[in-house]
Amino acid sequence: MIPDLSHLTIAVVGATGAVGAEFLKIVEQRHPKLHNLKLLASSRSAGARLTVNGKEFTVEETTEDSFQDVDIAFISASTEASRHWAPIAVAAGVAVIDDSSAFRMQEDVPLVVPEVNGADVTWHQGIIAIPNCSTTPLVMVAHPIHRVNPIKRIIADTYQSVSGAGGAAVQELREQSEALLKGQPVTPHHQPKQIGFNVIPQIDSFLDNGYTREEQKMIDESRKIMHAPEIRVSATCVRVPVMVSHSAAVHFELERAMDISEIRALLMDMPGLTALGNTESGDYPMPWDVAGEDDVFVGRIRKDASNLNGVALWVVSDNLRKGAALNSIQIAEELVARECLKTGSTPKPKFSFGEPESLEVSEFRKDINYFRAHMDELLPEFRGKYVAIINQTIVDSDVEYVPLMDRVHGKYGDRPIVIEEIPPRPRINRNPGFRRLQKTQGENAQGNVN
Ligand SMILES: NC(=O)c1ccc[n+]([C@@H]2O[C@H](COP(=O)([O-])OP(=O)(O)OC[C@H]3O[C@@H](n4cnc5c(N)ncnc54)[C@H](OP(=O)(O)O)[C@@H]3O)[C@@H](O)[C@H]2O)c1
Repeated sequence: MIPDLSHLTIAVVGATGAVGAEFLKIVEQRHPKLHNLKLLASSRSAGARLTVNGKEFTVEETTEDSFQDVDIAFISASTEASRHWAPIAVAAGVAVIDDSSAFRMQEDVPLVVPEVNGADVTWHQGIIAIPNCSTTPLVMVAHPIHRVNPIKRIIADTYQSVSGAGGAAVQELREQSEALLKGQPVTPHHQPKQIGFNVIPQIDSFLDNGYTREEQKMIDESRKIMHAPEIRVSATCVRVPVMVSHSAAVHFELERAMDISEIRALLMDMPGLTALGNTESGDYPMPWDVAGEDDVFVGRIRKDASNLNGVALWVVSDNLRKGAALNSIQIAEELVARECLKTGSTPKPKFSFGEPESLEVSEFRKDINYFRAHMDELLPEFRGKYVAIINQTIVDSDVEYVPLMDRVHGKYGDRPIVIEEIPPRPRINRNPGFRRLQKTQGENAQGNVN
């Protein structure tokens, strides 16, 4: 059941943007009784009228007073706007869920994909970040495999739609396509090069290491979300002339070889993921079909011909939904379900999954690998609980993550400890239920434009 948000007052900064528009659609679908909304943007859109859940709202310019009496603020505007508005909202006692890259790698900011690391919301200090729209589908696919057979290396090559760069970039693709079909020249404004009938191997600016910022985000963010700093990750991010949905060709190198049927079963059991199987009949995900869907879709699951322990996959998700707006709303639902909405109501953890300071990474891996290998034996007793492990032995357990960490820290100090949540019971016989949408992608994209 989806946790109810209708008792809350929610501000949406960037309500007129590509992500904001999708956010309001999802509010209508998941929270039809939510009426206490404050729709905010810049002065450019102030005064615009938008209807949500049958109620008409006037878009207001975001000001310092905008966050009074607000419970949650979703900020989906720009990195600069997030840097400016998030601290102001937090100072007003608001829990901020931020779509930008401003705070993602900050140590005191949880970076959350609820299906993967939902428990991290418990230690928020006011701001919770959502990942980059290409990172989210990657970790949704990596996580169920990694927890059973650790991933050593990831190579992800993306094919990202223009809506990932905002509503103005969608409009630019339309205009360039029309102009090019008429034989007219085009001048890029919102992309580094011509995007009409082209692909651009550059998203965001270049770094000294030759990667782009977008690629570095995928590398850093996926490790933080999965609490797995030891995974080696490389990415090439490419913009393609598609309106909505990002795709990626992903290669995982696993610790040990694994049957494709086993990998497929793990993916099918992952909430929020639809695994397609029948490649012969062309049953693989494509951006046109996936636009408007909530799930991340994975197909073309096969052995990597160049690596005995490798698997190759094709992953597609709607960047405006699971890549941004839906993930944000799911974080709000997670905050409500775990009763940790209030800023600072739970302490920052003393143990970090990501960078265990007092612990050699090899020791940490030894414990966690043993634990994963023996998961089945442990399941009946500890299913759905957090467990603390020292030297391959469960030393403590609790349903709640933060109290367990506090207790374990009090008792064992800085000794090497692994804390893991035993996964919920897998869903059985899940039918992927992929349906082809009765719409055109053009219609979808139109809805996302300001
Ligand atoms: N698009 C994606 O797939 C995606 C995925 C994940 C994360 N994100 C992140 O989400 C954010 C929004 O992306 P988008 O694609 O929706 O961009 P967008 O279509 O360009 O929309 C930007 C929105 O922010 C508002 N805004 C701009 N500056 C503002 C300011 N200083 N104060 C208040 N509001 C301001 C704009 O209002 P006006 O109408 O007044 O201009 C508009 O509503 C970005 O940080 C982006 O990195 C996007």
